[in-house]
Amino acid sequence: MAQTQPTRDPRLFIHNLVKRDPLTGLAEDVRKGLTAYPKRFLPKYFYDQLGSQLFEAICLLPEYYLTRAENEILERYADEIAAAVDGDKTLVEMGSGSASKTRLIIEALLRSQSELMFMPVDISATALESSSRILLQSYPRLRIEAFAADYFAGLAELGKKSRRRTLALFLGSNISNFDADEAHRFLHAMRSVLKEGDALLLGADLKKDPAMLEAAYNDALGVTSAFNLNVLARINRELGGTFDLHAFRHRAFYNEGVGRIEIYIESVLNQRVRIENLDLEVQFEKGELIHTENSYKYDMAGIARLATATGFACSRSWFDSQERFSSNLLLAA
Ligand code: TRP
Repeated sequence: MAQTQPTRDPRLFIHNLVKRDPLTGLAEDVRKGLTAYPKRFLPKYFYDQLGSQLFEAICLLPEYYLTRAENEILERYADEIAAAVDGDKTLVEMGSGSASKTRLIIEALLRSQSELMFMPVDISATALESSSRILLQSYPRLRIEAFAADYFAGLAELGKKSRRRTLALFLGSNISNFDADEAHRFLHAMRSVLKEGDALLLGADLKKDPAMLEAAYNDALGVTSAFNLNVLARINRELGGTFDLHAFRHRAFYNEGVGRIEIYIESVLNQRVRIENLDLEVQFEKGELIHTENSYKYDMAGIARLATATGFACSRSWFDSQERFSSNLLLAA
């Protein structure tokens, strides 16, 4: 159930909807994923404190063009985006992370309204807390009601709050990490908490030269590798796992037929790994892959189909100068 934490700052409320005992969820999901065939982990477990910071580092990598491309769009068009939804607005954001791109939208909104309520949802309570405090220091006319939750739990809670006209953000091409089915379910759930006239700004990475896509997920510094393998390190830390991180490696490649980057952890040898807290021994074959994430790449037709299938109308799209990335304003129809 929702635990509301009035913080010391009267402009900040944080609801913690992450399971009271977060280890239970992790333990259950890791057991399921490692006893399944093929083996897999859930992407949300990337984002512990270290994982969230490694992801911030990914966003700074020269190969990972997504963040810079989306930033370019928001820097250039934030006022236009804000004006495309009429009236004073509440700002909602799913998967806000460090909320650095959000600033551009917050500033645009505060240019045209006197105060702003920001409602971010993020799986990482630590990221939410630190980003909220920093935002409040920057913007005296801002108030924040934050939800530490996964997307669906966060949306369910948001649906109970009365809000004025709402602009929701789903940035960073986080939509990419859903398969078609999940993307539909997510946008449906999003649509059901919005009223007619509200809007969702959806960031979507575009299909392009596979070499450019693959470079974005195989950076030379190895930050993406560290981010991916941190899931094993997390299992070692939190569940008494015995993964030897040197015996696994990061793999990411573009599956052009399906239009997605597939991300795996590969076992570089035959090995057994014990996970103490689960009383579980897992066998890995040399070359065996654990699936950790997909990143689907979109084209404009795909975005339009997704929008109309879920009760939205794709009213406008903006692109970076190299047309690598799209920001799409979906109006609740
Ligand atoms: N939403 C990001 C994306 O699909 C997540 C991401 C970036 C990611 N790099 C990764 C996930 C590496 C797993 C591994 O682009």
